[in-house]
Amino acid sequence: MPDLSALPPGFTWGVATSAYQIEGAVDVDGRKPSIWDTFCRVPGAIDNGDTGDVACDHYHRWPQDVDLLRRLGVDAYRFSIAWPRILPDGTGTPNPPGLAFYDRLIDNLLAAGIEPLVTLYHWDLPQALQEKGGWPSRDTAAAFASYAEIVAGAYGDRVKTWNTVNEPLCSAWIGHLEGKMAPGERDLRRAIDTSHHLLLGHGLATQAIRAAASRPAQVGIVFNLSPIEPGTDRPEDVAAAVRADGHTNRWWLDPVFGRGYPADMLDVYGMEPPVHSGDLDVIATPTDLLGINYYFRQVVVDAPDAAAPYARQVEVPGSSTTAMDWEVYADGLEQTLVRVHEEYAPARIMVTESGSAWYDEVTLTEVVDDKDRTKYNDDHIQAVARAAARGVPVDGYFVWSLLDNFEWAYGYDKRFGLVHVDYKTQKRTLKESGRRYADLIESFKHPA
Ligand code: NOJ
Repeated sequence: MPDLSALPPGFTWGVATSAYQIEGAVDVDGRKPSIWDTFCRVPGAIDNGDTGDVACDHYHRWPQDVDLLRRLGVDAYRFSIAWPRILPDGTGTPNPPGLAFYDRLIDNLLAAGIEPLVTLYHWDLPQALQEKGGWPSRDTAAAFASYAEIVAGAYGDRVKTWNTVNEPLCSAWIGHLEGKMAPGERDLRRAIDTSHHLLLGHGLATQAIRAAASRPAQVGIVFNLSPIEPGTDRPEDVAAAVRADGHTNRWWLDPVFGRGYPADMLDVYGMEPPVHSGDLDVIATPTDLLGINYYFRQVVVDAPDAAAPYARQVEVPGSSTTAMDWEVYADGLEQTLVRVHEEYAPARIMVTESGSAWYDEVTLTEVVDDKDRTKYNDDHIQAVARAAARGVPVDGYFVWSLLDNFEWAYGYDKRFGLVHVDYKTQKRTLKESGRRYADLIESFKHPA
């Protein structure tokens, strides 16, 4: 069992999910398509041709999922709200059944003593807004703020903690530059514009949530960050690591913490984001917390022919990897937390996601003995405790994920859950890693 003595009392233990990855019911109760519904229809975009049409059917089975949360003993549950359920066309009048769904979920979580942590944007942009220009268009940032205002008005009496945008890096770079996530574009200009409008949307939404919520809100953005190292000490590779750090980490952290866009990256990209007067102040609207999602470090070499930032990840000899082929490197979580604290000093940090996919097996007796995931979680939680011991104000940890779910372009083969989902029957089975997490939470609350 990890030594948790350095974690602050009241530390929040949770699990995380997102709407498109678990809900299914994509055309139920007035929901209209998001860019992910569309992208899933592009031949070859998703492994096995999988889609989020049914996913974990959480839209219908949520009471069972709240029971699982109770069984885990978590303090909090981080989930996202599907913009296309609340505003099927992206703007306009809210859709009452969409609002009612999350209303029930929030009430039932609170009744179970579980704090709801709400993410507003976990990548499911209403398709109608994509057709009007999507995130490369400035109007989408304003539409996002209006959506945030509606949601905070509806749930801001009960929800205390809000994440505006989840992992803008993925939407901007993977969705608009690498083409591997919705909307599947490969265009640096549009990717840069997207990055700016996501950050602008975050700032506007932060202000909108505070204005619309009837209780004091704790608001922040969620970044997926990685420590970056050069693969060799050749000067080209050292420079590639600086660029990759700019692309992955500083491009996002610097503007949110009031420093504007990093000058070296403007040179690397060879273009400026579409900043209007006042935008940088909006983006730097003070936040209450920073969410960090951590999965892996990047070891990179120079790659002039690759897409920006012209760096390529290389394997670390002797390292072990998950089913995603991601290196297992718990020290990187400690390094990331310490670096963000020392360089940017957010008031509070939460690890809003940490987790791993493995090729789980269900035995005849319906046990999933996922030792790799258990060890992964223990080691990463220990890394958080080490960071706390070094003075980092980290006060929450959310395992990705509650359930096995739709892993975006990888479909359903990559299982991240503490709970196994049999997609044929929708049967949920708590894995051994889930039992272990429950024990760990219990032992933190009631030390022997
Ligand atoms: C981060 C994303 O927020 C989540 O949607 C995804 O499933 C996990 N990483 C694992 O890739």
